Amino acid sequence: MKIKFIGHAAFYIESGDYRLLIDPFISNNPNSNIDKELLKDITHILITHGHGDHLGDAINIAKQCDATVICNFEIGNYLSSFNIKVHTMHIGGTYNFDFGRIKMTPALHGSGINHNGTMICGGNPCGYLIKSMNKTIYHAGDTGLTMDMKLLAIDDIDVAMLPIGGNYTMDIYDAIRAVDFIESKKVIPMHYNTFDVIKSDPVEFKKLIGSKSQVCILNPGEDIII
Ligand code: NI
Ligand code: MN
Repeated sequence: MKIKFIGHAAFYIESGDYRLLIDPFISNNPNSNIDKELLKDITHILITHGHGDHLGDAINIAKQCDATVICNFEIGNYLSSFNIKVHTMHIGGTYNFDFGRIKMTPALHGSGINHNGTMICGGNPCGYLIKSMNKTIYHAGDTGLTMDMKLLAIDDIDVAMLPIGGNYTMDIYDAIRAVDFIESKKVIPMHYNTFDVIKSDPVEFKKLIGSKSQVCILNPGEDIII
């Protein structure tokens, strides 16, 4: 499985014949660096919550690729009006897709959708536990530290994508506590340095994590194979 960081909280995941995007905030992200060819054959798009830096380019990419958007019921209801394929789930729910198994996990955050200047209800924010090709990855979404993360320790997570930018989400110190809870083999820090208010130092995070987990600091466009 290939996991490519495409900036902010956005990831491209290649697993067998399937190509997934998570939170594709691309065209309005000053730090995004992605080969547009990558966006041609996307099969599924996972959305953690309704904020613009996560919903991002989901509508356009879903239309171009005829991809299925996986999201909560409220965001799904909103997206349905754009004539795209949607699979809705909710917190704690698990579903077997053709590429693997997804569980929607809780996140402590908001999820309003800005539609032409009006805030629409986007339901509850979430994260995703994704099991595919005998690997397990966890994308926390935007979230504060939560005790619920302790429940993930039994899932034997290979890679956890965790926000470290602070202000809207966990900072590096709470993300370290999250790693203690989750016990993932690897961690990819995300949701930092895109805006001034979420400035954070991933090298300091890596130093403080020490041997607890392998921290993979990825620049946009870089990937890891697991
Ligand atoms: Ni957000
Ligand atoms: Mn965000």
